[in-house]
Amino acid sequence: MNPPRTPPRIVHVGGSAPYDIHIGHGLLDDGAALAAHVRGRHVLLLSDTNVAPLYAERVAAALQAARPELKIGRFVLPAGEASKTLAGFGEAITALAELGATRDACVFALGGGVVGDLAGFAAACWMRGVDCVQLPTTLLSMVDSSVGGKTAVDLPQGKNLVGAFHLPRAVFADTGALTSLPLRELRAGLAEVIKYGAIRDPLFMEWLGAEREALLAGDAHALATAIARSCEHKAEIVERDPLEKGERALLNLGHTFGHAIETEQGYGAPGSDNLNHGEAVAVGMVLAARLSTQLGLAPASDAEALQALLARYGLPTQIPVGLAPEALLARMRLDKKNIAGRLRLVLWRGIGQAMVVPDVDEAQVLQVLAGTP
Ligand code: GLY
Repeated sequence: MNPPRTPPRIVHVGGSAPYDIHIGHGLLDDGAALAAHVRGRHVLLLSDTNVAPLYAERVAAALQAARPELKIGRFVLPAGEASKTLAGFGEAITALAELGATRDACVFALGGGVVGDLAGFAAACWMRGVDCVQLPTTLLSMVDSSVGGKTAVDLPQGKNLVGAFHLPRAVFADTGALTSLPLRELRAGLAEVIKYGAIRDPLFMEWLGAEREALLAGDAHALATAIARSCEHKAEIVERDPLEKGERALLNLGHTFGHAIETEQGYGAPGSDNLNHGEAVAVGMVLAARLSTQLGLAPASDAEALQALLARYGLPTQIPVGLAPEALLARMRLDKKNIAGRLRLVLWRGIGQAMVVPDVDEAQVLQVLAGTP
């Protein structure tokens, strides 16, 4: 049964090109609200093979009903991180060319982080930049990747190595889409939600401890609250530091370790045993917290509390077997935060107090990766 319609919550993201994040049930059917962001006549609806069968026709029909003159093209990627490539990007650009998209075109990114990143990058590059509206359908993309304008594709050498900052014109997070989300994906999104507590909000961490059952059961109100709080945190940070010259890097707590794990495993197909992004970030946050303890920056009890919370959410907290510490370290050396060949990591002083630490000693990192501090 659908929850009663309540007005969407709106989180405003300020800055040079402000936009709103709309959070609520049924937003994908609100053609007038979606079409309000289309300046021209061309729309490319970009999605993947998991999400398109569920929502693409609904979104297209809603847009068309609101604006009959729109020419709506569709481009559907195979689901999974393995599609986030230069080849996939090329196909998306070709779809824009075939649509005859002009500079006032709008790309709608309907799906999770892979779709949002690739669609955003295609929008950033087509005719040097057209509009993009993010329609995240996973929790992970609602609380993180759809907000803040980071767009990219992966290379075999590492995640997100080719991309651009390209702010969305709007974000519509339809919480109704979460009802079709597999539990594993919901947990993965909750890892990124926990991240906001870990980096800057101890009270939110406590709330997440108390609301675990409701959140894992997909309670619409609890999820909307978690999404709105996460987006408020992200909005505050990206507004002040859109291009990651400073504090935006804090949003990458656990990500350098996590990306290394993801890259070393090979970007898995959906349903594979390889860790997905949120799971890899969960392990990465535990490793970052352990390293902080080992370096004398933070109490061990905070690392243990974070690990315990993630475990209660059913998230992994250990590096998958078979990944060599040296190989992970080699991957971490290619992280975008590094400067002058030195490891620069997001660590913490404890729960709610993340910080960027330059020039981290590789031997210490290796010890944490080997599980032998
Ligand atoms: N996902 C981290 C950021 O947007 O900066």
